[in-house]
Amino acid sequence: MRTEGFGGAVGFSRLFLRQVVRPGDRVIDATCGRGRDTLFLADLVGSTGKVWAFDVQEEALAETEERLRASGCSTWVNLVHAGHECLFENVAEPVRAAVFNLGYLPGNSAGVVTQPKTTLAALDQLLLLLLPGGIIVLVVYTGHPGGAEEAASIESWARSLSARAFNIWKSCQLNRSDSAPYVLILEKMPLQGK
Ligand SMILES: C[S@@+](CC[C@H](N)C(=O)[O-])C[C@H]1O[C@@H](n2cnc3c(N)ncnc32)[C@H](O)[C@@H]1O
Repeated sequence: MRTEGFGGAVGFSRLFLRQVVRPGDRVIDATCGRGRDTLFLADLVGSTGKVWAFDVQEEALAETEERLRASGCSTWVNLVHAGHECLFENVAEPVRAAVFNLGYLPGNSAGVVTQPKTTLAALDQLLLLLLPGGIIVLVVYTGHPGGAEEAASIESWARSLSARAFNIWKSCQLNRSDSAPYVLILEKMPLQGK
């Protein structure tokens, strides 16, 4: 008997992360916010893995640190107080997966919001760090000022990538408003036979 559905965009995106991420993996939360995705990733990789979680807001990092400590996961998570566009300066290992939950810190719609230029800079760097078979999951919001432009620039970037090197999907809920968050998933092609 199923007791939990797929949920909205965040729940749906996690189906793919559960499928790909294994204990011991290296992964990135590009926008840690209140730390829910960071904790989810920390649970998936376990104490033999490593998570890097980025945010530009101290408030977000403090809340994430508290959440991780309460769950006993803080020792294998590196909280990075920097924009995800500084990925190369902070992560030197190949990664299995990365999550971008874009937009505002939940409950703080007057605050800092992700921007197309820095989001794309981070994505470009990630393509080089991503292991074959690894995935990047983006939860994209269009309902706030600048959100539609960010979504358009990410989709245009995604369309420009080689179909031989990457599988890229877009998934939205058809019975929700046009501004409901949606999911983009990018998979770097696995190495054949490995
Ligand atoms: C929708 S929230 C993330 C929600 C979060 N994953 C969670 O589970 O609570 C988006 C976050 O992106 C952060 N952000 C904005 N620009 C950023 C950047 N350049 N690099 C990293 N984080 C950024 C914001 O501060 C905000 O906390």
